[in-house]
Amino acid sequence: MTSPENAFTHPATASRLYQEESRLAARTSALHQAKIQGRAVAEVIADLATDHLAEPRQAIVADLGCGRGTSSRILAERLRPRHLLAIDTSQAMLTAARARVEGAPTRVTCLRADFHRLPLGDVTCAVVVAAFCLYHAPDPRLVIAEIARVLVAGGIAIMVTKSADSYRTLDLLVAAAGIDAGATRRPSLYGTAHSGNLEALTAPILPIVHVEHEEHRFAFTGLDHVAAYLATTPKYELPSAMATDPDTIATALRSRVIDAPVVAASTVTYLIAKRGDAS
Ligand SMILES: C[S@@+](CC[C@H](N)C(=O)[O-])C[C@H]1O[C@@H](n2cnc3c(N)ncnc32)[C@H](O)[C@@H]1O
Repeated sequence: MTSPENAFTHPATASRLYQEESRLAARTSALHQAKIQGRAVAEVIADLATDHLAEPRQAIVADLGCGRGTSSRILAERLRPRHLLAIDTSQAMLTAARARVEGAPTRVTCLRADFHRLPLGDVTCAVVVAAFCLYHAPDPRLVIAEIARVLVAGGIAIMVTKSADSYRTLDLLVAAAGIDAGATRRPSLYGTAHSGNLEALTAPILPIVHVEHEEHRFAFTGLDHVAAYLATTPKYELPSAMATDPDTIATALRSRVIDAPVVAASTVTYLIAKRGDAS
């Protein structure tokens, strides 16, 4: 299922992506500043959890691939569950998450673990969230099976991912600027779990109760703004001196394309699956 060239799943690159908080922080910031359409994802996750859960305050909630803890904080505030487990493989991400959930009005534990082998007993969680992380699994079905194992009867999994063609305009721009002539042929970073295959991955493992898609749109103010985002993406084959340096990327872009606003889109997909029925 995995592509050897996909930096999000390839062992040589994937383990380096989250070693420091700065890359994800810069990527999130560039996208956040550009966003012109689309709801705040963490708030939508909390809305879906409250809509689909009878007693959130009794729940044990696990936030897999919690990253910097943005959704963990919102879930802790909005659901006030009995216990929230923020889980990630990256120590740097957990340090950031721990700071973000400090003072949250509920018990939160940050745990370092791989979502393929959760350090949780069978039938323990009422909610498991996996937002923007399943595409780091070479075979996400193994993670979904692990989620199913830890869910209580009637418990819900909330999975969130993006379309495989997310930010396609940027592929075209990078190719047109000649900084990676093959940009449009690079495999999607979201290739293993995306808007188009998430239902098919989940249905054989857990019954699906809800799916929704929302187009998010981003207006980058110009090439500096685009470069700030490109410097955080491992998708392209850029010269090594350029790969993570926004100024060098911006200079290279400006030499070949007009410096003007750039609009890009990504479909965000929310899927809720429910284990059995509590009744
Ligand atoms: C793009 S971030 C998503 C963060 C957060 N869920 C959000 O929605 O903002 C992906 C996270 O998945 C984590 N991750 C990747 N592979 C993982 C694995 N095998 N087990 C647990 N976490 C993993 C990364 O360390 C990273 O923090």
